[in-house]
Amino acid sequence: TMPVGRSPNLLLHRGFVMIQGTHLPQEVDQIQDLDLRDSDVFVATYPKSGTIWLQHILLLLQSKGDVDLMSNKDKLSNGDLVPWIEVNGQIQEFATAESPRFRVTHLPFHLMPTALSRKKGKVIYVARNPKDILVSFYYFHKLATMLETPRSFDDFFEKFIKGEVMGGRWFEHIKSWFSHKDDINMLFITYEEMILDLTSVIKRIADFVDTELTQDQLQNVVKHSTFKNMRKIPQANYEQVPGDLLDHHEGTFMRKGTIGDWKNHFTVAQSEKFDEIFKQEMKDFPVSFIWDI
Ligand code: A3P
Repeated sequence: TMPVGRSPNLLLHRGFVMIQGTHLPQEVDQIQDLDLRDSDVFVATYPKSGTIWLQHILLLLQSKGDVDLMSNKDKLSNGDLVPWIEVNGQIQEFATAESPRFRVTHLPFHLMPTALSRKKGKVIYVARNPKDILVSFYYFHKLATMLETPRSFDDFFEKFIKGEVMGGRWFEHIKSWFSHKDDINMLFITYEEMILDLTSVIKRIADFVDTELTQDQLQNVVKHSTFKNMRKIPQANYEQVPGDLLDHHEGTFMRKGTIGDWKNHFTVAQSEKFDEIFKQEMKDFPVSFIWDI
């Protein structure tokens, strides 16, 4: 376990860049030994790839598209309803929670329960084009008080490429999961597919988690999962999360929800540099992205 760059509160632990306090190395180390049930579902993402979107969709599938049923008024956010398995205190909760256990994670594959490789539980991996992730993450660093506010976009660009950010290097994350996609029960989807055809992705998710829906119910799940509608739901927009975690003056969690916002932020030189690294890193990984529409 060691510090990451000059960031005061990031730690590199076994290939995962964690936030001191939010994540505890000794707890993360216990995750590999967790017992899994067939009905467990993990959403694995690199940060800013649409984690909240999947949390929301899983909750809606469970309530068959009924938004009133999905909202548990005691919980402040989707993050409390479908928690991160690696966050401080969550492992104990997980062990005794009722089925079905829905969890999200930013961990790389090798830190996840080994039971996944015995085809216990399921994983939905959501990938997003990393240029848009970088921009989304940049704004999230301004919003989230536990993350250091970037000095500038250029500075953040370099940090992202080096992986000196929570979650580590994007390239390592996607490769870690992608290379095990056939060893575990995995559904691989992209943020861009969801933007372009939400209905068909939700159908695939519903099938994957064995949820049967009528046509009406499916339409309701889709309707309540659009950016416009989720933005109005305080739990999905993290509106009730206290100001000492998110600085609500800096913006909203549900920020833009589009493909290609990177074009408004990257210089030509940054874009070319990024493309070059992407080509190198991803040469053996046939994952293609939609970069703009
Ligand atoms: P932007 O900052 O580009 O808008 P995560 O939950 O992994 O942190 O991802 C957050 C990103 O997903 C944000 O991206 C957010 O707006 C986007 N997002 C969440 N729900 C969405 C939806 N229903 N439609 C489109 N984008 C969504």
